[in-house]
Amino acid sequence: MVNYKVADESLAEKGKEALYIAENKMPVTAKVLRDRFAKEKPLEGITIAGCLHVTKETGNLARTLKAGGAEVYLCGSNPLSTQDDVTAALVQEGINVFAWHGNTDEEFYWCIRECLKAKPNILIDDGADMIVTAHQEFEDLIKSGTIIACQEETTTGVKRFRAMEKQGKLKIPLFPVNDARCKNQFDNELGTGQGIVSAIYGMHILFAGKVCVISGYGHCSSGMALRARGLGANVVVTEVDPIKALQAKFAGYQVMPIAEALPIADIILTATGCKHVIAPTKEMFNKLKDGVILGNLGHFDIEIPTKELYEYAKWIKPIRSNVEELTFPDGKRVYLLAKGRLANLVLSEGHPSEIMDMSFALQSLMSEYIVKNKDSLKPGMLEVPTDIDDKVGFLKLKAMGVEIDTLTTEQYNYIHGYEEGT
Ligand SMILES: NC(=O)c1ccc[n+]([C@@H]2O[C@H](COP(=O)([O-])OP(=O)(O)OC[C@H]3O[C@@H](n4cnc5c(N)ncnc54)[C@H](O)[C@@H]3O)[C@@H](O)[C@H]2O)c1
Repeated sequence: MVNYKVADESLAEKGKEALYIAENKMPVTAKVLRDRFAKEKPLEGITIAGCLHVTKETGNLARTLKAGGAEVYLCGSNPLSTQDDVTAALVQEGINVFAWHGNTDEEFYWCIRECLKAKPNILIDDGADMIVTAHQEFEDLIKSGTIIACQEETTTGVKRFRAMEKQGKLKIPLFPVNDARCKNQFDNELGTGQGIVSAIYGMHILFAGKVCVISGYGHCSSGMALRARGLGANVVVTEVDPIKALQAKFAGYQVMPIAEALPIADIILTATGCKHVIAPTKEMFNKLKDGVILGNLGHFDIEIPTKELYEYAKWIKPIRSNVEELTFPDGKRVYLLAKGRLANLVLSEGHPSEIMDMSFALQSLMSEYIVKNKDSLKPGMLEVPTDIDDKVGFLKLKAMGVEIDTLTTEQYNYIHGYEEGT
C-alpha cells in the first residue's frame, strides 16, 4: 500500500514526462547506479525517508533507491519547492509522498511526521528539519537504533548539525553529503549561479549595466556573482569573512558593507545561510533604491527580512507568479522574489538535472554505504569517504565521454613522498 498526500493525482502524466526528461540528463543516478541497484538490491529491507525539494531530480533519486530495494518516503524541505506533477507521478510508482506546493508551516511538519511514523532506517535531509524533528519527537527511533544513520544535503543543515554536535545533542551518525567535492563544488556553485539567472530572466529583466549586489562569496554566492558578471552586470559583493572578501576583491568585484551597497543596488541576491543580511530596520529599508529586486537563494526565508518587509509595506501586489511588488509608505517600490524563499527553486525548476545527477549519485551511494557499514557507525559528524566522492566523479566523466590521466607509480610515490627535492 502506498501512503500519500499530494496536491492533485491527475497531474501524474505530466509528472512522468518531467521525470523522464530529468532521467535522461542524470546518467549516473538514473542509469548506471539504478541498473546496478536493481540487480544487487543493496537496500533491501531498508526504509528511507527523504525531506528534500521534491523536484523531478529528487523523484529520480527516489526511484533509484526504490530500485535498490528500499521502501521510500518523501516530504518537501521547503513549502514552495515541491513540483505537484512529480509527486503525483511518484505515488503511481509506489513511492510514499507527503508533499504539496504551498503548504503551511503546520502542514510542513505534519508531512515530516508522517514520514517518521514509517520508522525509517535512513534519513536524507535538506536543511535539518526532519532530523531535528526526529531528535525532538521520535526519540525512540534513535534510542532503538531504528535510524541507522542520516545524510544531509545542504550547507545550512550541516551547520545546524555541527552546532548540535558541539552541544552534545547529535545522537545519530551523520554524513554531511553537502561537503563532498562532487556536491558543493558543482551543485552549489553551478546550480545556484545558473538558477538565479533563469529565475530573474523570467521577469524579463536585463542584467547588463545593472548593479547586482551578491551577499556572500561562498559556494553558491561566488557562482551567482560569476553568472551575473557574465551577463554584464556590475557586481558588488558583501561578506563577513575577510578571506572570502579578499577572494572577491581579487576576482575583480567591488566589495563593500551592505549598508553602502543598498542605495546603489538594482538587484540584491543573498545566499549566506545567515539571517537578516539586510538588517530589518526602517533605516535600512529606506536606503533601498526604487524598483530594486530582492531575491534569496539561501535555505531559509530570513536572509532578506521578509516578515519585516511585509509589515513595513503599505501595499503588497502580486505582479507575476511568485513575484510581489511591495510599496513602502513613501511610495518606493521593491520587488520581492518567492516570498524570500529559495528563488531558484520557486521561480525556476531548481538546479539543472545534470548537476543534481552528481549530488544524488552521492546520496544513493551513501545510503548503500550506510547499510554495508551499519555495525561500525558511531553517532556524530562523519565524512563522506573520498573514494565514494571520486567514484561519482569518475562515473560522471565516463558518462560524458571524458577521459583523464592516471598517475604512474613513480608519480604517485613522488607526490606522496618527501625524499626527492632540489
Ligand atoms: N538555492 C539552492 O538551491 C541552494 C543550493 C545549495 C545551498 N543553498 C543554501 O545557500 C546558503 C549558502 O550555502 P553555501 O554552500 O554557499 O555556503 P558557504 O558557507 O560556502 O557560503 C556562505 C558565505 O556567506 C558569508 N556570509 C555569512 N553571513 C553573511 C552576512 N551576514 N553577510 C554577507 N556574507 C555572509 C560567509 O562568510 C560565506 O562566505 C545555505 O543556506 C545553503 O543551505 C541553497
